[in-house]
Amino acid sequence: MSLANKYRPQTFDTIIGQDHITEILKAQMSTHKQIHHNYLLFGPRGTGKTTAARILAKAINCLDPHEGNPCNKCFNCTTINEGKTLDYVEIDAASHTGVDNIREEILDKAAYPPANLKKKIYVIDEVHMLSKWAFNALLKTIEEPRDNVCFILATTDIQKVPETIISRCQVFNFKKIDKKEIGKRLKMICEKEELTATDGAIELIAKISEWCARDAVKYMDQVSVLGNIDEEHITKFLGVASEVLIKDFLTLIQTGDAKALFEKIDDIHNQGIDLHNFAKQTLMYIDQIFLEDIEFFTKISETFTDIIGNIRYYPYPTIIYKVAIHKHLKWDTIKN
Ligand SMILES: Nc1ncnc2c1ncn2[C@@H]1O[C@H](COP(=O)(O)OP(=O)(O)OP(=O)(O)O)[C@@H](O)[C@H]1O
Ligand SMILES: [Mg+2]
Ligand SMILES: [Zn+2]
Repeated sequence: MSLANKYRPQTFDTIIGQDHITEILKAQMSTHKQIHHNYLLFGPRGTGKTTAARILAKAINCLDPHEGNPCNKCFNCTTINEGKTLDYVEIDAASHTGVDNIREEILDKAAYPPANLKKKIYVIDEVHMLSKWAFNALLKTIEEPRDNVCFILATTDIQKVPETIISRCQVFNFKKIDKKEIGKRLKMICEKEELTATDGAIELIAKISEWCARDAVKYMDQVSVLGNIDEEHITKFLGVASEVLIKDFLTLIQTGDAKALFEKIDDIHNQGIDLHNFAKQTLMYIDQIFLEDIEFFTKISETFTDIIGNIRYYPYPTIIYKVAIHKHLKWDTIKN
């Protein structure tokens, strides 16, 4: 089992970076009267939507909740965890089988009372993928809420969910997860798995995963195959640069030595570092130290933005770098 699945949070309290949501849900679960009929969880990928939907399903049904968290031990929690009850249905709208028969298989059956849980729960993941026809059927169902049925919808793309559906749900906006929070979580997983990781490596993984907790855990999982989790292994395995390399590269640009720069570009490429990623990483780094030299960093940001814009369309990424940096240097000389 992948680390991301193994360490999928099972309680609201272990979800990181979404306290604004988990606190409300826990409070609702503690005073049972406040449970809504329909929930809509939306936000960027890998931030805990599917995880929260599953926890919510258990919390609603749990026979022994702790401050709104599911116990994960009672009959209701375990049958949901093991997928042994027909009262808990999880549909992935991104897959065809989930959508084709949504009416017959799901919505029509929602009319019957639950067989063994307190409430029937329907989790519709990637709900934005439903067809117009399926949305209409769903709308009809959630328009007439039943006390023993709850719909939990999740999506990365709320723009594609009809307003009529959104307005009938309690809506929660998942946030990108702070790098520090991700770092803490990675450290916790390392301790449990008895993996050794340097602080620099943890920081680098948290950074390149761009606020996505899933990617962070996944990257760490991949790199751990090489043994120690350190920056060198991350570079090797994930094709990303260490901060030192980025810093050196920026210094070279500042000194304006074209030959050394061009060699460095080839060198970075030959190390197997993805040059598209490298440009993104560099921009992220510049963002952190922007105030140190506003003029230089403004200009170099424009250069790197050009690189990012062009690099996808060219088979030879090194030449994009060289051209963009050459333009940048020339501009500099003309100005001086
Ligand atoms: N907020 C979080 N706290 C702790 N771990 C998280 C969190 N979000 C994601 N993860 C990790 O990432 C994995 C995937 O999370 P999840 O499936 O909930 O993401 P998602 O928001 O549904 O993503 P997608 O939009 O791609 O479906 C989890 O198993 C867990 O390891
Ligand atoms: Mg999901
Ligand atoms: Zn329980």
